[in-house]
Amino acid sequence: MTPEALVAESVRKIYRQRNGPTVDALVGVSLRVARGERVALLGRNGAGKTTFLKIASTLLTPTSGTVSVFGHEVQTEADIVRSTIAVVPQEGKPFFHLTPREQVYTYLRARGFDRSTAKSRTEEALGQMELGEVADRLNITLSGGQRQRTMVATVIATEAPLLFLDEPTIGMDPFARRGVWESMRRLTRKGSTILLTTHYLDEAEALSERLYIIERGRVLVDGTAAGLKEEVGGTLRVSIRGGQELAETFASFGSLVREPEALHIITTPERLVEVMGVAIRMRLTATIGPVTLEEAFLKVVGRSIDAEN
Ligand SMILES: Nc1ncnc2c1ncn2[C@@H]1O[C@H](COP(=O)(O)OP(=O)(O)OP(=O)(O)O)[C@@H](O)[C@H]1O
Ligand SMILES: [Mg+2]
Repeated sequence: MTPEALVAESVRKIYRQRNGPTVDALVGVSLRVARGERVALLGRNGAGKTTFLKIASTLLTPTSGTVSVFGHEVQTEADIVRSTIAVVPQEGKPFFHLTPREQVYTYLRARGFDRSTAKSRTEEALGQMELGEVADRLNITLSGGQRQRTMVATVIATEAPLLFLDEPTIGMDPFARRGVWESMRRLTRKGSTILLTTHYLDEAEALSERLYIIERGRVLVDGTAAGLKEEVGGTLRVSIRGGQELAETFASFGSLVREPEALHIITTPERLVEVMGVAIRMRLTATIGPVTLEEAFLKVVGRSIDAEN
């Protein structure tokens, strides 16, 4: 048994268009996801996340490089790979002429589950996604978030060994998002593996044990949320309202993030007293909070953008 659910080696994808420039969407992505892990792929719009997920889920052929899923190559053993995965595609829509209950059940039957398993899994997934009230209405009549919950319910009901979720919680309310997170955790406790993309960095932090940041088709960061925060210089953020012109004063305490309304100093607990001492002496309004993954992301990806330009 291979220890990894997914291994990608130097995956490259060049989109060649008939009437337009070629696009180097992936320029050598290598990554690994262990069995039972929840891993997030993060990155700006157009970074290559969806392209990677499509290749890994057999929907797209790479220009070069390989991806294997549970030891099976996605290109040469696509049928075996497909039987072990389930996908929530980006901007996928449920079948409009079905109800959520019919959609989940029909999908499970099509994947080969017997009637009674399909029925019980359907009810469980509808319950987890809190779709009970709308389960017998046509999907076309559902709200955007309810449709997305139906897409997620369809996939979690499979309990497939490897799940690919491309922005699974887009458009969901905060309660529904937490419902998805709980389902993801439950699935990995049962042995599934999850690779997801999201632009909600609180979600990436709450849900994933490890993350990759993809930037311009390359892996920029391979690590954890905590590790990324350490890399940007600390776990605490001191925000000084209207403190932009004081950047020099605070530069020695940590790295700075300048925003129109405030100056943020990313620092460590050890240096906090000094930073606050300066702020108090200068009669500045300062608030202290934890550094978020979003701030670390902005800093690390911003640094890479600056270096390229
Ligand atoms: N079919 C296609 N033909 C040509 N270029 C494409 C095609 N699909 C995607 N691209 C380009 O490839 C790059 C990567 O796109 P991709 O959809 O993988 O990004 P993404 O990281 O998923 O972005 P987002 O966060 O916006 O979903 C982008 O520059 C995009 O414009
Ligand atoms: Mg995408």
